[in-house]
Amino acid sequence: EQDDRWTAVDNYAIQHLVHEEYESALQYAIDLSAKEGLPNIEVSPLQGRFLKLQCMALNAKNILEVGTLGGYSSILLASSSPDAKVTTIEISPKHKAVAEEVHKRAGLSDRIEILLGAGMEVLPQLRKDVKDGKRENFGFVFIDADKENNLNYLNEVIPMCRPRALIIVDNVVRKGTLADPEAAERESKVAGARRVVEGAGRDARLECSLLQTVGEKNYDGFLLCVVK
Ligand code: DHB
Ligand code: MG
Repeated sequence: EQDDRWTAVDNYAIQHLVHEEYESALQYAIDLSAKEGLPNIEVSPLQGRFLKLQCMALNAKNILEVGTLGGYSSILLASSSPDAKVTTIEISPKHKAVAEEVHKRAGLSDRIEILLGAGMEVLPQLRKDVKDGKRENFGFVFIDADKENNLNYLNEVIPMCRPRALIIVDNVVRKGTLADPEAAERESKVAGARRVVEGAGRDARLECSLLQTVGEKNYDGFLLCVVK
């Protein structure tokens, strides 16, 4: 299904548009993740840059990510501003160790905090800290972890967001299977994508859209939710 034109356009756009300050750290994230056997399911360079641009446009200085993996996207989120702070949650100690090494190499360790644990264990504690004023609320959230919990994560993060915060959920289109109820019966990740899209759409606190994407990461898409 992968169309060569998608990758050609990604490469063309990267060549002309992307001049990342943290290019060598991003490459190190890719290389160390491959060496350590992490799956190469991080966001593409253009997708990561899309997230960074959202943070810049929103002036979001306090950023939350669910699903660190090798720490690639957290570098881009942190690079949105010299005073941006990223809190990112990772269930795997091995992934966390890779990401910490990568962030150290980038000189970003003091601005990226990795919290070890399952999203549904760490998020409620984080929520309490925000409620108690021990942590600032978030202006941007990227949900990119186990897809079955997408709607649970969305419900946890909404109360931690400032008004007009943007929440993006990765990988909801899944080669178009999002629109196929039978695919959802076969695949729990599709069911998770449908639950979060339908749940977000019913939520009066949110204004939502969906962005389909093609590129080197095939055909997928983001769910976008602005907190009213
Ligand atoms: C998968 C997860 C991701 O976050 C992604 O961007 C692509 C694929 C997966 O679980 O297969
Ligand atoms: Mg993803």
